[in-house]
Amino acid sequence: MALAEFLAELDQLNCDAQAAFQAAGTAAALEAARIEFLGLKSGRLKSAQKGLGAVDRADKPVAGQRFNQLKQQLETALEAAQSRLASAATARVDGPRFDPTVPGIRPRLGHLHPLTQTIEELKDLMGRLGFSAVDGPEVEDEWHNFEALNIPLEHPARNPLDNFYLATAERLGATRPQSTEERGLLLRSQTSTVQIRVMEKTPPPVRIISLGRVYRPDDADATHYPMFHQIEGLLVDRGITMADLKSVLRLFASSFFQDDVHIRFRPSFFPFTEPSVEVDMSWQGRWIEMGGAGMVDPNVFRAVGYDAEEFTGFAFGLGIERVCMRRHNVTDIREFYKNDVRFLQQF
Ligand code: FA5
Repeated sequence: MALAEFLAELDQLNCDAQAAFQAAGTAAALEAARIEFLGLKSGRLKSAQKGLGAVDRADKPVAGQRFNQLKQQLETALEAAQSRLASAATARVDGPRFDPTVPGIRPRLGHLHPLTQTIEELKDLMGRLGFSAVDGPEVEDEWHNFEALNIPLEHPARNPLDNFYLATAERLGATRPQSTEERGLLLRSQTSTVQIRVMEKTPPPVRIISLGRVYRPDDADATHYPMFHQIEGLLVDRGITMADLKSVLRLFASSFFQDDVHIRFRPSFFPFTEPSVEVDMSWQGRWIEMGGAGMVDPNVFRAVGYDAEEFTGFAFGLGIERVCMRRHNVTDIREFYKNDVRFLQQF
């Protein structure tokens, strides 16, 4: 073999090996490169050594010298790559130093919204009076929101302008005038719907509360919001009277507010109770309406298949925002829904 050819082969080998050692990013990759170039059995340097034997005798000293030099160069390059990887690993293990004495960054912990806190507390309080909490759907049909509650078709409470009827495809496609079933679904305007759902499924006696959102197209002001929460109570048994209703509501108010709150009952009208009352609470020298209540109307019992001769019951529906406002001296209901952390973190 001509000397020039042999030296060119060594140069190429040098070039390839240097590049491979430098590119190896892991110990495994470097080991693979070592075997490829410096492997004792079939590494490329070993093959080159065999080529040395074929160089013309006269050129051998020069070729041998160059070969030894290359071997040295490759071993040095391999060592450099090994120590580069080792120092990278040490840096990773040491990492940035952890100093346990440096004060930590305290994460900002949230807490339950004041209305959620109130809901939990109301469940707890009424639970101690023997009422168990049940849920009902927020999207209701007219039977549960009106019909079964003795609110007939022509009643103003069913006015589309006073309710959030849902524009279902079925409803939009219907030709008017629509029958009760066709008029479809709405966002419930009161939690009294749950009374019906419970009585339809459960024989008396019944002693439940239901808490949740209700929706009305009311303009927002200090005491009204288009979406708000109610707590509904229903107790049905033999011999239940208005005295039971008043006792439970008084007990509720004095336990929840834990001060000498005065409540008063004003005669009122709800289609699903007879007699009906409006319940007010005293606050800052004024009366503020807390909810409605009354003795369950026999027509409601008939709608759900209860014997109205045998059973009597009372029901009430209170505004949860209102009691929460009084409890915490919040004078504007809109504060609950602004999501201003400065307001919310006070509770
Ligand atoms: C009712 O909703 C009846 N279902 C209550 C009832 C239940 C009567 C069972 C008899 C038997 P009313 O529309 O008055 O009643 O609402 C009850 C309470 O909800 C009000 O007293 C008030 O505290 C609260 N409320 C009513 N509208 C709003 C509103 N837009 N924003 C905030 N709270 C409201």
